[in-house]
Amino acid sequence: MIEIKGLNKNFGDFAALSDINLSVAQGEFLVILGPSGAGKSTLLRCINRLTEPSSGKIIVCGQESSSDSAGLRKLRCNVAMIFQHYNVVPRLMVLKNVLTGRLGSMPSFLSLFQIFPKKDVEIARQCLKRVELLDKARLRTDTLSGGQKQRVGIARALAQNPKVILADEPVASLDPKTSRTVLNYLKQASSDLGIAVICNLHQVDYAKEFAQRIVGVSAGRIVYDGPPEELTDEILQIIYPDGDTSVESPLND
Ligand SMILES: Nc1ncnc2c1ncn2[C@@H]1O[C@H](COP(=O)(O)OP(=O)(O)OP(=O)(O)O)[C@@H](O)[C@H]1O
Ligand SMILES: [Mg+2]
Repeated sequence: MIEIKGLNKNFGDFAALSDINLSVAQGEFLVILGPSGAGKSTLLRCINRLTEPSSGKIIVCGQESSSDSAGLRKLRCNVAMIFQHYNVVPRLMVLKNVLTGRLGSMPSFLSLFQIFPKKDVEIARQCLKRVELLDKARLRTDTLSGGQKQRVGIARALAQNPKVILADEPVASLDPKTSRTVLNYLKQASSDLGIAVICNLHQVDYAKEFAQRIVGVSAGRIVYDGPPEELTDEILQIIYPDGDTSVESPLND
């Protein structure tokens, strides 16, 4: 589904990513762990080309990704994003937020006027049902809790019908119970629909609990790639050389 070969990303003289090689299969739930500044977000941003790699190849769904407009369009069709701060439009109805996930597949004259064909509304409703928020479809999104907003974020990503979901610290702003609920929805969708998920997390506990595979990144390099069961304390020390495995204090919003 995703193949990354010899990826490097430099910011000036600084190497943010060095020689990243990674293959992610259909339906795989992969968690990236690493200390702050390790390059986790930069890696996701290179995959969906929000950042231009300095060198290396990224192949998504069998096609080498590129930054020309056709390449970007294809990439945006196949790859959906989930963000730490949800990126939902607060004053929009929940269903409309999810429908924005359909915009890329709609004729532009319809999307311009935000006229959504019935079939797209039905897809959005199915995605809301999957995260058990169908009963909130007609509410303004800013009336929802943080965990519910992130479930809307997941539903919007699913509405895109993606092959790949990139999630950059999707539960960093949530309390532990809500975080587990949100990660469960994401993992279930990944296995039911065969979506490859790459999820950046700060919390080692969640990574061990939810990941099928963990990739440890430290100072821009992959230092571990294997199953959660084999993530020993020694390996954690390599991933977090300064011993910084602490969980960020959750914000309840
Ligand atoms: N646009 C940029 N210009 C210059 N340096 C950057 C830029 N984006 C990222 N970096 C640097 O690249 C490194 C990796 O950043 P990145 O955001 O990928 O880390 P991260 O692992 O996601 O950290 P965190 O866990 O804090 O989110 C950092 O040292 C950061 O300062
Ligand atoms: Mg980051």
